[in-house]
Amino acid sequence: MAEPLAPAAPAPPAAPPAAGPAGAAPFAASLADFAALARAALPPEVYDFVAGGSGAETALAANRAALDRVAVLPRMLRGIDRPRTDAPLLGRPQALPVAVAPMAYQRLVHPDGEPALAAAAGAAGVPYVASTLSSATVEQIAAAGGPVWFQLYWLRDRGMVRELVDRAQRAGCTALMLTVDVPILGPRLRDVRNGFALPPHVAAANLPGSRDDLAHAGTPGTSAVARHTSAAFASALTWSDVAWLRGRTDLPLVVKGVLDPRDAVLAADAGADAVVVSNHGGRQLDAAPAGLTMLPQVRTAVGDRCEVLVDGGISGGVDVLRALALGATGVLVGRPLLWALAVGGRAGADAAFALLAAELRDALTLAGCADPAEARDLRTITEG
Ligand SMILES: Cc1cc2nc3c(=O)[nH]c(=O)nc-3n(C[C@H](O)[C@H](O)[C@H](O)COP(=O)(O)O)c2cc1C
Repeated sequence: MAEPLAPAAPAPPAAPPAAGPAGAAPFAASLADFAALARAALPPEVYDFVAGGSGAETALAANRAALDRVAVLPRMLRGIDRPRTDAPLLGRPQALPVAVAPMAYQRLVHPDGEPALAAAAGAAGVPYVASTLSSATVEQIAAAGGPVWFQLYWLRDRGMVRELVDRAQRAGCTALMLTVDVPILGPRLRDVRNGFALPPHVAAANLPGSRDDLAHAGTPGTSAVARHTSAAFASALTWSDVAWLRGRTDLPLVVKGVLDPRDAVLAADAGADAVVVSNHGGRQLDAAPAGLTMLPQVRTAVGDRCEVLVDGGISGGVDVLRALALGATGVLVGRPLLWALAVGGRAGADAAFALLAAELRDALTLAGCADPAEARDLRTITEG
């Protein structure tokens, strides 16, 4: 399991971010630094479960490559001193144009798991998206922080889908995010090679009894997590299911995992308030492009009908600037925040949000933007 940042001296609850001076704790000079720190701290099979993509990991590599190809033309002499970083998401003001991507089983990386990351997100003014497959219940997560959005995987049992939506709403979640790119789990070959299974202390807390045994049954040469998912998830969804969901809740609805602009239009037609242009962190179709590559076309296709978020490989404030300049309303950040949780629990997550905010402020200042909205007017050059 991950080691706390400062094992010799447990931090008091109100401790400042623990990514402090070298010697006191592992030092993170940037959000991106947490990846290497976490790799050193985590058991290799847990690191692989989080870091890995599907197949040959082409889509995973495409995410970082797409970001690196985007150059942003900064504006000069615009009198910017200290830009604002706040921006609305789903019509509500947030401290950053960022939400925490839904990620399953966060107790794998740190015993404090989802409630710790949600609490840090809440303190930073950033929405936290609780996964259907979280290792704490949606009620525990919503009680730890806020705002919390709930990510829905469509289960084979529609009664359980209804119940999950109702539970999320009762728990105080302020938006629903339906993930549409997981008809089956993409082949995560690292997990297959590792014979990866959940340890006894980690389980799908929102889904008691839904063939939980499968996720824990380690067999060499198979991924127990993939077997559990294919037993639990419905694979033959259609856009009419999205419309059904739209009719069941008044919460803002986000459709996560579209890449083709035609699907983004269908999501808007079905009543989505936002789409997430995403290849699921390179974990689903290995031939998929990066979300960032498709972002401008999706933005053009949906116009102002819905918000357009993007994810995949975003590992710092400069990447957020790139996404904004390409027309994103905001971004989801996944692995970098999980790495910070792994390294330091709540304190690591606090440090990560502080670094991300500072990096975005620096990027906006250097680009001559007074706020995230102005970044959408920047010009970009996409090479290659
Ligand atoms: C360990 C892990 C678990 C994930 N679990 C979920 C999930 O439960 N639901 C979901 O919609 N996406 C899930 N994703 C995908 C993320 O929400 C997001 O699309 C992706 O990680 C973004 O890329 P990034 O990690 O490079 O930021 C998961 C990703 C990782 C790395």
